[in-house]
Parts: sequence; C-alpha cells; structure tokens
Amino acid sequence: ISLKSLNTFGFDQKARFFLKASSAQELIDALSWAKENMLEVLILGGGSNILLTRDFGGLVIKVDIKGIQTLREDEDLVWVKVGAGEIWQDWVSFAIDNNWAGIENLSLIPGTVGASPMQNIGAYGVEIKEVFDSLEALNRSTLEIETFTAEACEFGYRESVFKNKLKDQYVICSVTFRLEKKPNFRVDYGAIQDVLNQKGIVDLSLRAVSEAVIEIRKSKLPDPKEIGNSGSFFKNPTINREKFDSLRLAFPQIPGYPNEEGVKVPAGWLIEQAGWKGHRDGEVGVHSKQALVLVNFGKGSGREIQLLSEKIRLSVKEKFGIELHPEVNFI
Ligand code: EPU
Repeated sequence: ISLKSLNTFGFDQKARFFLKASSAQELIDALSWAKENMLEVLILGGGSNILLTRDFGGLVIKVDIKGIQTLREDEDLVWVKVGAGEIWQDWVSFAIDNNWAGIENLSLIPGTVGASPMQNIGAYGVEIKEVFDSLEALNRSTLEIETFTAEACEFGYRESVFKNKLKDQYVICSVTFRLEKKPNFRVDYGAIQDVLNQKGIVDLSLRAVSEAVIEIRKSKLPDPKEIGNSGSFFKNPTINREKFDSLRLAFPQIPGYPNEEGVKVPAGWLIEQAGWKGHRDGEVGVHSKQALVLVNFGKGSGREIQLLSEKIRLSVKEKFGIELHPEVNFI
C-alpha cells in the first residue's frame, strides 16, 4: 500500500504489509506474525516526524489505540490516561474543554499522543516532560507491557530513551498526563504576549493562550495538508559560550538563549543567514516563512529532502562552524 497519506511530507513510498492496531493485543499479534515471517517492522504514529527515503519491504503498523480516561484527581491536579492513537490536538482541545491546564502552549502540534514522549515535544516555552506522569509501552521482544516513569524516559531537548538506547524496542500504548486545575499561564515566550496584546486580551484563559499559539503557528508553519512538511527539520544546536562570543564578533545579530550546556542558537536563523530561506530545488525546498522547515511542493521525494538537508548542513557548518542535527527520523 502507499504510505502517502500516512506521512505529513506526503511521500509516496510503499509498504509491503500494513496494519492499523487498535489495541495492545492487536499489536502483539501483528508483532508475532512479523517475527514468524521474519519481516522488518515500522511503527507509525501520525507520521509527522519521519522522512521516508525508500519503500518498506516489511510490515508498517499504525498505532490506533484510542481512549481518554481520568484515573484520579485531587484538589489541584488530575491524572489522565490517553491512548497512543489519539490525535495530539484532539487531546489538547479535550483538556482545554475540561479546564485542565498544562498543554495549551502545545496547541496544534501535529501527530499522535503516543509519539509525543518519543521526542519530548515542545513549543512556546513548554515541553511535555513537565506534564508527564508515566507511560505504558509494549516491549517488542518479550511482548509484555511495561510502565515508564518520567525518569525512566530520560527526557531531554527533543530526546527520550526511546530515540536512544531503547530505540525500536518498545511501542508506546498510552500516556498518563498530570494536568493542573488552576492554570499557571506561560506567556513569557515573546510572541504569545504580543498576540494577546494585539487582541486586547487582559483576562487570560486556557482558550486565549491556545488561540494565540495557533495563530503564531499558522503564520509561520505550513499546513501539511497543503504543503508537505514535518515541522522543524533540525534541532536548535547548543554551542559553548566561547564559541558563541566569537561568533557574535563576526555576526553581531546572532540570537542566543543561554541554557545549562551553553547557548542555544536558533537553527532557523543560521539557515536563513546561509541564504536558504525560500530556496527551491525542483519539487522540494525551504519554507519561505520559517527556514527550519523543509517542504515537499507535491512531487518531491524523501531522497531529495535528504540531499537538500545535507547541502544545508554543510553550508551552515562552513559559514558558522556549527553542526546541525536532524530532528526528523530518517527511514
Ligand atoms: N529565525 C530566523 N529565521 C527563520 C526562523 C527563525 O531568523 O527563518 C530565528 C528568529 O530569531 C526567531 C528564532 O529563530 O526569533 C526562533 O524561531 P521560532 O520561534 O520560529 O522557533 P524555532 O526555534 O525555529 C522551535 C521549535 C518548534 C516550536 C518553536 C516555538 C525546535 C527544533 N523547534 O522552533 O518546534 O514550535 O520553537 O516554540 O526546537 C517542531 O519541533 O517541529 C517545531 C515546530
């Protein structure tokens, strides 16, 4: 079958076998079947963070486990278990409708709930690790369900244990979030406050913050339904203080955000300064409003995106001496 509608770049690669798994048991059966037939397995969530560069000779499983269930609550907090196959934005809307705070800044992020801990999704000053309680995942070799605490997930910036030492070893089946009943608004991220001011909003609400985030995202990020893309293609690199200071002599405008390891520099700025913003190579290119986003104009391929990303990586390295690393997973 074609995977075109199952990856947000819209690449027309094929899978030999495909299955939608709507329960843990269906996942177990499918994994056992693949093992008996010695087939390679690819697990898909919303397909919003993968780059398909080839056809897939094995079994592609789309995790479609649904359900939102309140486990417990106290005066301040509520613990909610969400099926891995729920669409992330549906869950965000559900939380806002219930007046549960903590994920409103993560509005409109594409993908599924099960994929969210994989790379500790984040935007506008919030990462999911802050509202994460635990998750249940199927161990692909023992076929047993295991529970992971936040600590066991080893969250980092766009990182978790599931992208590193446990890569391809587990399938996330559900995620339990711990949300707040009394919101602790996070609007310190410049643009959110600007949008709220423009709209004349003084009484903050979860919905107002969510709408501001949606407005900002829509203004710079292309809608995958219109132009294929997978959001930020590279991670924002962190460089050491000395390196940042020396770059600032040559490039006085360089933006930088200090963190524990040094200074984080927006990859979008580096790519734009290297001359790539709005660049087009045939059917693929660099988005004209956000240089960190690579796009498929329609008939492009994953190989073409891979080549373009390599050219960008080399040119940023040459101009700034900074190594960019993809955020997207290559298949
Ligand atoms: N910038 C440019 N030119 C560009 C793009 C960005 O100069 O073409 C500079 C500007 O200085 C701007 C700064 O980069 O102020 C930051 O840009 P932006 O706010 O758009 O955020 P980002 O650092 O490019 C990150 C996340 C996004 C997330 C936003 C908002 C990563 C890799 N990306 O992007 O996440 O939505 O912050 O918090 O950390 C994603 O992961 O797919 C994603 C979209």
